[in-house]
Amino acid sequence: MDTHAGRGDGQDPRDGPSSNGPATTAVFTGLSSYLELGMTTVEGWLSPTAACIVGRLLIEQAHTGLRGDVCEIGVHHGKLFLVLANAAAPGERAVAVDVFGDQDKNVDRSGCGDRVVFEQNIARYAPGAAVEIMPVSSLTLRETGFLSHRFRFISVDGGHTAPTVSNDLRLAEQTLIRGGVVALDDILSSHWTGVLTGLARYVAAGGTLLPFALIPNKLLLTTDAASANLGRALLRRLFPLASVKRNLEFLSGFVDLYEDHPYYDRGNYANLRLALDDAGRERDALLTRLDEARVDVSELRHAHDELAVRHEAAEARLARLQASTSWRMTGPLRGIVDLLRGQRG
Ligand SMILES: C[S@@+](CC[C@H](N)C(=O)[O-])C[C@H]1O[C@@H](n2cnc3c(N)ncnc32)[C@H](O)[C@@H]1O
Repeated sequence: MDTHAGRGDGQDPRDGPSSNGPATTAVFTGLSSYLELGMTTVEGWLSPTAACIVGRLLIEQAHTGLRGDVCEIGVHHGKLFLVLANAAAPGERAVAVDVFGDQDKNVDRSGCGDRVVFEQNIARYAPGAAVEIMPVSSLTLRETGFLSHRFRFISVDGGHTAPTVSNDLRLAEQTLIRGGVVALDDILSSHWTGVLTGLARYVAAGGTLLPFALIPNKLLLTTDAASANLGRALLRRLFPLASVKRNLEFLSGFVDLYEDHPYYDRGNYANLRLALDDAGRERDALLTRLDEARVDVSELRHAHDELAVRHEAAEARLARLQASTSWRMTGPLRGIVDLLRGQRG
């Protein structure tokens, strides 16, 4: 890890991706295990569905050859940053901006970055990532080499006041490659109205980023209308179960709405697998009991058939007896016996 700014190759970030070809699948092994096993252990604010959507968008970008660094402004302990870092392809940097120990610069007290914990989490869950740490306020990023980066994904989750949010969105607009995505956190939170105000100010001042989706607690924006359409189409295809509404008006554009759904909770997915195994075991036990019951039924049927044969034989014997001569001759005697029995009774 280092704290210096990016490579600064002098290219205009809006010129589009510097495509070095699609990333390898090996890149995503870490992402999968972080989503399934690591994420719940890292303190922070991130819904499993949002994490899954962001991770999937990043993979899709890499598969389509979109190359660029990834960044988060406001990392706290790295809960979302680790999704970005695990989806960075070889040669791409994951840039973390946070005031960390300088909490007097965190004016609205949104979260509290801790560099030691953050670095421990990186070492544990994204050891191979090329992480660049910028321990400054985003309000001073222009004085660093930050603008020389070209990003394909930026999470804006630092200061939640309107001036900071509009500053961070402008920085994102200036550094995002065409088709890149910005995730703006807490967009509709009633606790952090500075975020919506900051976005409104950014749009009113001519900001060009276009919203295309609302995912749990985050607004996704991109560079242009065609990319917004692609983003909407992609999420509709990939996340049908979380899809709630389409084409909602949202300031300068339209958004599709996605809400939390347990299917996309990768941690929960692991639990679902366990539940599935349990259900399988229960089904096997029921099938065994059904087989046993079938044996019982066939034994009962056999006993019933035997009894029926014996009953038929007894009736035949009775019929034969009643038809016999001796039975007819002893008839009056049986009548007297019956009469006497009746008087006694
Ligand atoms: C809500 S937390 C971020 C949560 C994080 N994204 C996660 O995944 O859990 C906000 C973070 O922004 C940092 N911060 C606040 N103001 C900032 C600023 N002006 N520049 C950079 N970071 C800032 C705080 O230190 C804190 O770590």
